[in-house]
Parts: sequence; C-alpha cells; structure tokens
Amino acid sequence: MNSLDQHPLFKPAVLGSHVLRGRLVLPPMASGTADADGQVTAATLAHYDRIVGDRHALAWVEYTGVHAWGRSEPNQTMLSSERHLPGLTDLARLIRAKGALPGIQLTHAGAKTDVDLIGRRPLGASALPVPAHGGDMPAPEPMTAVEIAELFDAFVTAARRAEACGFAAIEIHAAHGYFFNQWLSPLTNQRKDAHGGSPENRRQLLVTLVAELRRVLKPSTLLSVRFPGQDRLPGGMEPEEAAELGRALKAAGMDMLDVSSGLGGWRRGRDQRGEGYLVSDAAFLRREVGLPVIGVGGVSSLEYASEALQEVDFVAVGRAVLENPAWPLAA
Ligand SMILES: Cc1cc2nc3c(=O)[nH]c(=O)nc-3n(C[C@H](O)[C@H](O)[C@H](O)COP(=O)(O)O)c2cc1C
Repeated sequence: MNSLDQHPLFKPAVLGSHVLRGRLVLPPMASGTADADGQVTAATLAHYDRIVGDRHALAWVEYTGVHAWGRSEPNQTMLSSERHLPGLTDLARLIRAKGALPGIQLTHAGAKTDVDLIGRRPLGASALPVPAHGGDMPAPEPMTAVEIAELFDAFVTAARRAEACGFAAIEIHAAHGYFFNQWLSPLTNQRKDAHGGSPENRRQLLVTLVAELRRVLKPSTLLSVRFPGQDRLPGGMEPEEAAELGRALKAAGMDMLDVSSGLGGWRRGRDQRGEGYLVSDAAFLRREVGLPVIGVGGVSSLEYASEALQEVDFVAVGRAVLENPAWPLAA
C-alpha cells in the first residue's frame, strides 16, 4: 500500500448516493480552450486529460455559459445549445474513465461581460458596475421580468443538458462577481422589485432555481452552489448573510456548498493569500448550514490539506495542480 493511501485526502468519502475515492477536488478553472462557438476542442480534452489525476475524487469542468448574453470570454465552453452536447459528453466520459466524479459549473456573467463579446449592453440586477477589475466595468442594463425568466430557463435547460452529457454533479456559479453574485450582493443589487431590498429578496432567484433543479434533475445528481463566504467589501455580503443563504439553499435541495470569494473575484491581495485562505469561510458555513463543504484557496501541501480536513469535507487544489499535474506526488 502506498503511504498516500493513509492520508485523509485519499480516504473514501460518501456524497449523496456516490462513493468517492477521496476528498481531493479539482476546482472549476477556465482553460480558454473552447472554440469561438463554445465547443469543446481537442485542446480542451487534452487539458483535462493532463490535469485530472488518478487521485481526484471530484473534478469540476470550468465555468460553462448557459446563454449567449452571459458569455464571459471568447474561448469559454458553452452549453447554450444542443450542439454543445457531444463535446461535453466526451469530456464527462474522459473524467469518469479516470475514476473521478465528473461535475460541471454553470455560469452567466451578467454585468461582468462586455458589449464587444455579446453584441449588446450586458445585463445585470441594477445599473451598477461590479466593483472588480480596478472598478472600470460598465454599468449593466437592469433586467426585465421577461429577461429574468429567459435566463432562469437557460440555467434549467443547461443543467438538464449537463445531466444528459453524463455529469454527476452540477454547480451553479454564484461567486466571483458573476450573475448570481450580482443579485445576492447589496452592492450590485438595488432593485426596487421583489428581487431587491432584503437578503431574502436578493437570494430568491437563486433559491428558486435550486428548487427547480432539484425537481427536474435525477435524485442522484449532486447539486452544488459556489458562493462567497462574504464579499469582503464595505457594505457587501457578510458571513451571517451567507449562512442564511446556505440554509435557504439547503432547504431548496442543494447537496453541498463550494465556498469561494465574492464580487472582487477569486484573486486576492498578496497579503491575504496564505495557504487555505478561504477555508475558514467554508468551515464557518459548514457549521452554520450542516452540509458537506468544499474548501479552497492556496492549498499546496499535504500537511495543510490534512489540517483543513478537520474543518471541511473536501479540499480543492487549483493552481498547484495546474503547475504540477502530478500533485500531490511531487508536493
Ligand atoms: C486559470 C484559472 C481559471 C479559473 N476559472 C474559474 C472558473 O471557471 N470558475 C470558478 O469558480 N473559479 C475559477 N477559478 C478559481 C479557482 O477555482 C480557485 O477557486 C482558485 O484558483 C483558488 O484555488 P487555488 O489557490 O488552489 O488555485 C480559476 C482559477 C484559475 C487559476
């Protein structure tokens, strides 16, 4: 037996009706390898073949767009049409063949896209720019009820397609300043209708989506939401509100939480990038919500991973694996 087999990261774990070979997760990471139509390419398959290792329990496919107006960058994978199914089916199959559970993250960029890419003014909750990229983002167009309904359907349709592709886990991206983060945060959502004002109103769209996904997807399909433990901006979403959100999502049928950062994006100031820099937010939400959580943020050593597993259920390692796909063997 390899000594790694003894490490808590590689002890089998149960998640819903799935038995995973451990607790190491590949977080969603944009590879920029899709073609201009959002199709998986040979480069996408080669990329995941390189980075999904024989120790991963769960591997997320990068943020994949559900609607043309929510496209985030030109080479982003998309699931906005039936024609995207064959490529993503190949990708799910590749991940499963490597022994990891295949998951996919579904995204809409909302205000965090640009007119050159989508051919129209970006859509958002309110005409307030996302405080990211040095604060030079344009103010989006507040969405109408019809546009909200169209976007809601786009998420539901994409999730059903993801399931048809063979993905066992589906994650809604509600962190890093993307669409749902914009609706959750009081800094970007100042709507006067039923979607704005109280925390309950701001989270209503996301909670309703999770309830609908739980209704239409197979009971065995795992539903995850990646959301911020806090926005870390004055006047932004605070940890207590994130805990309320987690409890509401749990009641709606979410199976696990993937805790990341808020409006400012996943990158952090150099002084705040210690190993496991977001794990304490995940641990807080695990205690408050009572669901399995994935902790992430600068993890690069097995020693730290075993410490983190005393507080969270799964540990995601991103850049260390991109740099060295043999991690943790050469850690
Ligand atoms: C190249 C790259 C692309 C990323 N793309 C995504 C993404 O598509 N969705 C997402 O939620 N996070 C994305 N992230 C953030 C990672 O999932 C992860 O949270 C972050 O890198 C911190 O983990 P690490 O320190 O182990 O790399 C990306 C990170 C990197 C480095």
